[in-house]
Amino acid sequence: MDYLEIKGGHALSGKVRISGAKNAALPILSATLLAEGCFNLQEVPDLEDVKILLELLKELGIKVKKSANGQVELDSSKLESYEAPYDLVRKMRASVLVLGPLVARLGKARVSLPGGCAIGARPIDFHLKGLELMGAKLVIREGFVEAKASRLKGAHIYFDIPSVTGTENLMMAACLAKGKTVLENAAKEPEIVALGEMLINMGAKIQGLGTATIVIEGVKSLKPTTCKIIPDRIEAGTYIMAVGAAGGELIIENCIPDHLETVILKLKAAGLKIDVIDEDKIKVKKKGRLCSVDVKTQPYPGFPTDLQAQIMVLMATAGKLSVITETIFENRFMHVAELKRLGADIRVEGRSAIVKGVKHLNGAPVMATDLRASASLVLAGLGAKGTTIVQGLHHLDRGYEKMDEKLAQVGARIRRLQSDGV
Ligand code: EPU
Repeated sequence: MDYLEIKGGHALSGKVRISGAKNAALPILSATLLAEGCFNLQEVPDLEDVKILLELLKELGIKVKKSANGQVELDSSKLESYEAPYDLVRKMRASVLVLGPLVARLGKARVSLPGGCAIGARPIDFHLKGLELMGAKLVIREGFVEAKASRLKGAHIYFDIPSVTGTENLMMAACLAKGKTVLENAAKEPEIVALGEMLINMGAKIQGLGTATIVIEGVKSLKPTTCKIIPDRIEAGTYIMAVGAAGGELIIENCIPDHLETVILKLKAAGLKIDVIDEDKIKVKKKGRLCSVDVKTQPYPGFPTDLQAQIMVLMATAGKLSVITETIFENRFMHVAELKRLGADIRVEGRSAIVKGVKHLNGAPVMATDLRASASLVLAGLGAKGTTIVQGLHHLDRGYEKMDEKLAQVGARIRRLQSDGV
């Protein structure tokens, strides 16, 4: 099994290029199910989650050709199956994104239910209720959701909570439905806007992207398109915070500063020097000890839950006391126990973590429990005194493209090693 060995205390310096966004690539790849023909996608990140989805798309009959530079060609002329098997869905919950497109194009789908997840229960009831409102007949059988509809029809759908993949699934389904669909309290994340823009290029009629009300006028068919995946704002935020943990100065290239507005404001308040130096470049510098700030995760444009674990690492050695409140997922504090192994002073009370800044963290072996927790442990290792060993790298590799190599290039002492015989 691979693990990372990080020798902490070395300041970062240089440039890091951000990869295409995982959470934009997954729905965009799923959208290729909606139209017959050849799609050309660029800046597709080389990640485990993307590999799993490509495997699923192949099972459904899409022909996939990957080039080394992040280009992926997909030929969706003929679909051969409408089933997303348990073995793939259990590896990655976002596989559920094929549900809407399959029902919309084929009139049927059989998709395994994803089950529980380390960070929370993460039900998919909004996806299912929305499809039912659009006229699909749903049955849960043998752990699968089976959906049927001769043609979906437009509907007025309200999300109790703005769900990212829920909005994406229903938006894709609505593109081929008969009539108008209105999604109320829809999610506003940049990844939804990116998917919507791709769908519009395919011939879909969508209004209100990036707002809480998305209106989709269904069309009879869609056509294939080309699409460049937007830069990953969570990866960019993670590298900005890597400077906060390790010290030094980095230029973050290929990012969209607007997508990081809240994160930048929060980190500036904590004392990081952050300047937008070009439309796609940010310069980050750490000068002295950070000060404590309170953080509350919120749907976009609020502070992202996907950066909560990383900012907790910064607060672990900041000046005073910080309260970090997680409002999106009920169990997203699994990194706390690991950070405590490095000497952090953190107490969890319900949905909040109270973080008292200590002078420094000390290296130790730690275990990654989920994707963003694993990134937080890497950041902690960069700032800690001594050596940190991070295990459970399959989590990190799901969502960060070559994180160890990117960090090593800017001065981090980080190595990917293999334990004997495991
Ligand atoms: N929810 C329901 N019912 C549903 C759907 C969601 O109750 O049918 C609840 C969830 O349990 C949660 C809240 O609504 O409490 C919001 O969840 P959402 O549906 O927005 O999450 P998601 O779509 O499953 C995406 C990202 C996550 C990210 C969240 C929140 C993708 C593929 N995944 O998940 O990314 O944390 O939105 O921003 O886009 C990650 O990349 O590490 C990751 C977990």
